[in-house]
Amino acid sequence: MAGNRTFTMIKPDAVENGHIGGILDQITASGFRIVAMKLTQMTQRDAETFYAIHKERPFFGELVEFMTRGPIVAAILEKDNAVEDFRTLIGATNPEEAAEGTIRKKYAKSIGENAVHGSDSDENAQIEGAFHFAGREMF
Ligand code: TYD
Repeated sequence: MAGNRTFTMIKPDAVENGHIGGILDQITASGFRIVAMKLTQMTQRDAETFYAIHKERPFFGELVEFMTRGPIVAAILEKDNAVEDFRTLIGATNPEEAAEGTIRKKYAKSIGENAVHGSDSDENAQIEGAFHFAGREMF
């Protein structure tokens, strides 16, 4: 059975460009309830750990540099079928391939700086949420 929570980050590019409000508005208007949220900045170690699955990929260094260069908004979102529905809402990793109206189509500039993160499985949603939030910060 699909879980009802996912984890997201509004990435440094979108925060720098003043898109926190627009992105949160689209998320909540799409039926997701925010159950945890904060403005925070990842350390190099945080980003290397969070994206460890990509550590052999050629883009890993740039990804870590990008994700640590400024604040992010981290949040846990609740909705039926949350992981899949949120991946649909954000669109393809590469904004050039993202569907019209998706968050990445609207706000992302490139595959590297693509505005938002969305967990890709229920298991990762749980791991990623716990990476950023203590139990008392989840509602
Ligand atoms: P990935 O998990 O494949 O995508 P998604 O974020 O859609 O789940 O990749 C993680 C991040 O790594 C992605 O959001 C941006 C970065 N990335 C690149 O910079 N270049 C690439 O070629 C890929 C595939 C990802």
